[in-house]
Amino acid sequence: MPYAPNSLAARDVAYTMHPYTNLAAHEQRGPHVISRGEGIYIWDDEGNRYIEGLAGLWCVSLGFNEQRLIDAATRQLGILPYSHTFAHRSTEPVIELCEHLIRIAPEPMAHAFLLNSGSEAIDTAIKFAWYYNNALGRREKKKIISRKRGYHGVTVAGGSLTAIPLMQNDFDLPVSDRFLTTDTPHHYRGARPGESEEDFATRLADSLEQLILAEGPETVAAFVAEPVMGAGGVIPPPRTYFEKVQAVLRRHDVLMVADEVICGFGRTANMWGSQTYGIVPDMVTCAKQLSSAYLPISAVMISQPIYEAFRDLSAKHGAFGMGYTYGGHPVCAAVALETLRIYEERDILGHVRAVAPRFQQRLHALGDHPLVGEARGVGLVGAIEIVEDKATRASFAPERKAANQVFERTVANGLITRALPGDAVATCPPLIIDETQVDDLFDRLERGLDEAAKSLRG
Ligand SMILES: Cc1ncc(COP(=O)(O)O)c(C=O)c1O
Repeated sequence: MPYAPNSLAARDVAYTMHPYTNLAAHEQRGPHVISRGEGIYIWDDEGNRYIEGLAGLWCVSLGFNEQRLIDAATRQLGILPYSHTFAHRSTEPVIELCEHLIRIAPEPMAHAFLLNSGSEAIDTAIKFAWYYNNALGRREKKKIISRKRGYHGVTVAGGSLTAIPLMQNDFDLPVSDRFLTTDTPHHYRGARPGESEEDFATRLADSLEQLILAEGPETVAAFVAEPVMGAGGVIPPPRTYFEKVQAVLRRHDVLMVADEVICGFGRTANMWGSQTYGIVPDMVTCAKQLSSAYLPISAVMISQPIYEAFRDLSAKHGAFGMGYTYGGHPVCAAVALETLRIYEERDILGHVRAVAPRFQQRLHALGDHPLVGEARGVGLVGAIEIVEDKATRASFAPERKAANQVFERTVANGLITRALPGDAVATCPPLIIDETQVDDLFDRLERGLDEAAKSLRG
């Protein structure tokens, strides 16, 4: 055992269940215990400092010691630590948060419903799509389409849309044949030889339309997509993709649900990924950077026509039969509101736009590295795809765990990254990162790559 009996690590192995962890390996190696954070950095319990190059799980936008968020939580805890939003109740932070959110939301979002996590937001968006079509008397129009490698959480319905084998296999997902998948919009892997991004996008939109026609448009309710695929490998869409996809959706009266859980609040150098890619959504899910992850909170936003359909149907039932004990928790709402105020007052978007070109330049320069097949990204998010052979794009055998080896070497070099499906290694630092820190991040990533190259090729 690498850890001492009765150490924190031993206690963790004895009692803690970890997501996304090889449980058997974990029993041998124990956890990496993180003790504190400051700015873009975190420290482990042995005093080692790391750049948190994934902002936690793509979420700690304002870094790890933002006093204003701590004060907002403390203040609200002192005033009113809990109240709910059921049955005509509300609180000041909830009202102000929803007002602010809708003011900055992608057009044409009109109302916000608050919850606790990205998965809950996705589950709720699915229920909303069903309720909406029932309100319109379209009882058959219930199927939901996601993309292979899309990530939309792990709850029973959200996990049914998360079309990543690891997240579905042996969990009996998808839970029903209401959940369908279409192609991954990954040009590097999916395009035919010589096919342009535009032609690839046309082919994928056609393929989506064929799926909808084969199922019957009267049975398809919604298409759920991340503007940039995140946990599936950081995959920005090919040029013209969303324009063509949305034309198909409009033709068949299928709702566009933009899952902005990662992209929302400046990640792609616009407030929303929807703005970066010309998406006009019917519903938007967001979480993570909504509160800089200091407290759990998420939201589903909907357009006015959807809201009106809900109003009519819920009148028939006597109430809108939907809500969570902690949805609109006043302390979480107060922290989220303060986060949005900070974004505005400090012009975080302007900062991202100033730093992103350097980030993307350093990221794309890694495309020349012998281990890197593709470097891709937008704004302050990116990934490199590890390949055995750059010319043929052949991947390493899965048992080599190539991306994981790169991840391990970046950690050894003081940088947290994340290994993702398709041998991608991702980085998505706090939005407050400055240019010098961007250079430091990529210097460390480069050293990690060089070291992994030695062991992978040696
Ligand atoms: C795009 C997207 N949707 C949904 C989720 C699920 O969010 P949560 O883990 O808060 O349930 C995630 C989590 O990473 C995500 O990236």
